[in-house]
Amino acid sequence: MDLHALQSILADLHLGSMAYFNVLDSTNAQAERWVEDGVPHLSLVVADEQTAGRGRSGRAWFTPRGAGLAFSLILRPEQIESASIPRLTGLGALAVCEVLQREYDLQAQIKWPNDVLVGGRKLTGVLVEADWQGDEIRSAVLGIGINVAPDSVPPESEADFPATCVETALGSPIDRWTLLREVLRVLLSRLMDIDQDEFLQAWEGNLVYQREWVQLLREGSEPVIGRLLGLRSDGSLRMALPNGEEVFFQAGEIHLRKFDRS
Ligand code: BTN
Repeated sequence: MDLHALQSILADLHLGSMAYFNVLDSTNAQAERWVEDGVPHLSLVVADEQTAGRGRSGRAWFTPRGAGLAFSLILRPEQIESASIPRLTGLGALAVCEVLQREYDLQAQIKWPNDVLVGGRKLTGVLVEADWQGDEIRSAVLGIGINVAPDSVPPESEADFPATCVETALGSPIDRWTLLREVLRVLLSRLMDIDQDEFLQAWEGNLVYQREWVQLLREGSEPVIGRLLGLRSDGSLRMALPNGEEVFFQAGEIHLRKFDRS
């Protein structure tokens, strides 16, 4: 892949500027640097390999050469309401989930807030990094990592959750760049209705563990156990505690796991 070929594959999408790297520290880091140069809304950074790919909670994201997709989209504040920022993580996860379902016939689901699972194993992570100045947002970077070929699956010791990849789930090889194009197509279309109820319903409707017992793990706090009810309009998670009380959680440094009550 090179920039010219990427531009032609993505030509019919209404993106801003585009950058392609064979090797990069992190597409999110590059997007943050690029924002300073004033690149337009919906500019895209793609890397074949990341040497310092970032995951949530300061974790690393494994991106060896030629095996996965790693890309970041720059969103400009004039084009997006601050109130929609908490929904961006859902936007990335929903776009991947819907493409895997519709185009690849995979039973993909979203593990709130930012993971896409197939068969209970993670194959996509989303990391949104926003630059706030007080209550004002200066820019947001929406980064998505998709495990495509088996080489992109992290060793068990490095994974925060059991992992898989699209090709293993499908049982056959796929074209990475077609997957990228389809994910971006759905993402751009969903971005237009990100502030609508329909968007929230689609995100919620694809959540794994609906009505099931789950535990929320937070650094330095006791796990919270309850039944997963759904989402609030800001994308926070609704849960019912064992005593019936309804509680809410913002994404932040939270990890969701299924809980076996037996
Ligand atoms: C997670 O599951 O912890 C989120 C992982 C996000 C990884 C992607 S890969 C493209 C973009 N660039 C990064 O450095 N991270 C995100």
